[in-house]
Amino acid sequence: MDKVGDQQMKHWRLEVDDENIAWLTLDYADASTNVLSSSVMEELGVILADIIQTPPAALVIQSGKKSGFIAGADVSEFGSLCDGDRAFKYIRESQETLYQLESFHFPTIAVISGFCMGGGLELALACRYRIAEDIPSTRLGLPEVRLGIHPGFGGSVRLPPLVGTVTAMDMILTGRSVSASAARKIGLVNYSVPGRHLVNAVHKLIASPPKKQKPAFLKRLPSHRLIRPLLAKYLRKKVAVKAPEHHYPSPYALIDLWLHHADDPETMMEEEARSLARMLVRESAQNLIRVFFLQSTLKGLGKGTDFKAKNVHVIGAGTMGGDIAAWCALRGLNVSLQDRTPESIAPAMKRAYKLFKKKLKKPRLVQEAFDRLMPDTQGLGVKRADVIIEAIFEDLKVKQELYQKIEPQMKEGALLATNTSSIPLEELAVVLKDPSRLVGLHFFNPVAMMQLVEVVKGKDTDDEVVRKAAAFTGKINRLPLRVKSTPGFLVNRILMPYLMEAVVMVGEGIEPARIDQAALNFGMPMGPIELADTVGLDICLSVAEILSSHLGGKVPDVLRDRVSTGNLGKKSGRGFYEYRKGKAVKPKQDSNDRLPEDLQDRLIFRLLNESAACLREGVVEDTDQLDAGIIFGTGFAPFRGGPMHYVKAKGLEDQIKRLEFLEQTYGERFRKDEGWDQLRDQIIES
Ligand code: NAI
Repeated sequence: MDKVGDQQMKHWRLEVDDENIAWLTLDYADASTNVLSSSVMEELGVILADIIQTPPAALVIQSGKKSGFIAGADVSEFGSLCDGDRAFKYIRESQETLYQLESFHFPTIAVISGFCMGGGLELALACRYRIAEDIPSTRLGLPEVRLGIHPGFGGSVRLPPLVGTVTAMDMILTGRSVSASAARKIGLVNYSVPGRHLVNAVHKLIASPPKKQKPAFLKRLPSHRLIRPLLAKYLRKKVAVKAPEHHYPSPYALIDLWLHHADDPETMMEEEARSLARMLVRESAQNLIRVFFLQSTLKGLGKGTDFKAKNVHVIGAGTMGGDIAAWCALRGLNVSLQDRTPESIAPAMKRAYKLFKKKLKKPRLVQEAFDRLMPDTQGLGVKRADVIIEAIFEDLKVKQELYQKIEPQMKEGALLATNTSSIPLEELAVVLKDPSRLVGLHFFNPVAMMQLVEVVKGKDTDDEVVRKAAAFTGKINRLPLRVKSTPGFLVNRILMPYLMEAVVMVGEGIEPARIDQAALNFGMPMGPIELADTVGLDICLSVAEILSSHLGGKVPDVLRDRVSTGNLGKKSGRGFYEYRKGKAVKPKQDSNDRLPEDLQDRLIFRLLNESAACLREGVVEDTDQLDAGIIFGTGFAPFRGGPMHYVKAKGLEDQIKRLEFLEQTYGERFRKDEGWDQLRDQIIES
């Protein structure tokens, strides 16, 4: 790599062309993705100090990686920043470096292809101009709030004056990213062009540099000091709907920062650093950072094989099969979708079109995705498929008959995956000549929203088949979690006792809305009663019956009663709640209202106890994978870091005592699983 002064550069390359344009390329050493680690920022500081000695005609910053521009700051360094003073010093130094970049008198241009997130966008914002390549993978955003923090390299200072306050605050407070063309529309980039025009666009900007982008008067108006308090109040209210302050303080801190300092960029910059340093050391941020790594762990489970699927054949075009097929086509695979009649496939095709329109927006891309999805009543796609996903009725015989028919037609090395949620793989596989090729790919409903896929290994499933299935899951941008073929696998098994406890409470006469509020107060995204209504009470009943037949326990009569009277939940307009226009009608709850402590504990401890049982039985490999599965499969309060991390944080022995108390008070469904004793080693060791 380049030498600047006496210092050898590890991550950056600098080339000056005949027109005296300096091209500075970030190629983060020994990694496939660029991040702004402390060493990258340090080198950047040295390079910028050197550049100013012999100023070029312009400076262009670009990525040397195919994967994208810059993914953000180096999250792996955040753990070491849990001392507030150290964090503040580091953030201020990085701000200084970007300030230096911003102060250059010659044009500075960031050329962005692929993701440009967090610190990466903050670096681009410190350049005078930005050009984005107009491809689907280009996304620009400041997703820090999702990690329990907020921008710290000047993003909250530089974004509002560029794109307008409301747009900027929306991006920062939700963490949502925008495409290249949307970035152009809001003024975040100067050009959005195809890859072949990027260099031309650079020359055009240098030849006739436009004035600094400034939003229209009306977009700047909300930043006026007299209007800020009103907007701040509105923003707080809006954020509170999804993220209560005591669980997610960072968006509120950001609103305060803007409210008090938006008139004074210099102070705001310093306060941004101070506030971020405070956020970084908080438990909720450290837990959300942990969740980020758990996500990487799951992504890693999909690596280690060179299996590449191109053609997928899905059998069963119902709720699940139809949506799985659409998702695979959206992710670029060729998909054939089989069902018994064209009429059974038609609704799935309609839903697919809606999904493509929502996600891809551009008519050409929507059409291409739609062309990749083929209705196939005759099952012609079986022969050429690399992956076959069966999602037909939950019926052992019907599934077995299908397998016998398709096995002789399957390509060698092709995967046979079932989406069954309750039938043991061993029973399904008995009809196969080669039972080692059957694997479970258990998607969750709705497929497009639920990131997790349980990759189920039966007794006979070959390890390589499991690896391939995990790789396929990663390829379609879902998170694979390896689980053993046991009733309910991991997620439903752990979720069900939690839901059933809520139903028992309804039977005791506790108001559903109060039960839900107890779970919301814990940090769940939706209460258990509303969740059961949303999943469908008939589906809950069927899963609860299967689980209780294998694992014991009683299915509450209240649930049976609801189902037998046709009150199936949201889909039938009434379950535990009544639904109007798709929304549950419930009395308004005050989150500050003191609920009996047992309410929350009864729900959570059923879930924790089942988690301990799953670990004891080896349903998942370890506590981290369990935490990841439950967070991504059920939405378990992410800022708590997962059920096992929660137990660790609260103290294992204290939690065991509490469980014993619940058993004495509420009976044997709270009997401590033996898994808790093994947890002593696992939790202390981790
Ligand atoms: P569904 O009833 O909506 O769809 C099943 C489809 O399979 C129907 O369109 C039917 O015509 C078709 N089918 C039945 N036999 C067939 C055959 N021999 N050849 C071709 N097509 C056939 O069912 P759903 O809910 O989509 O469930 C499918 C599978 O996914 C089941 O194994 C279920 O346990 C599992 N699952 C369901 C979830 C859910 O929330 N609905 C969640 C996760 C897994």
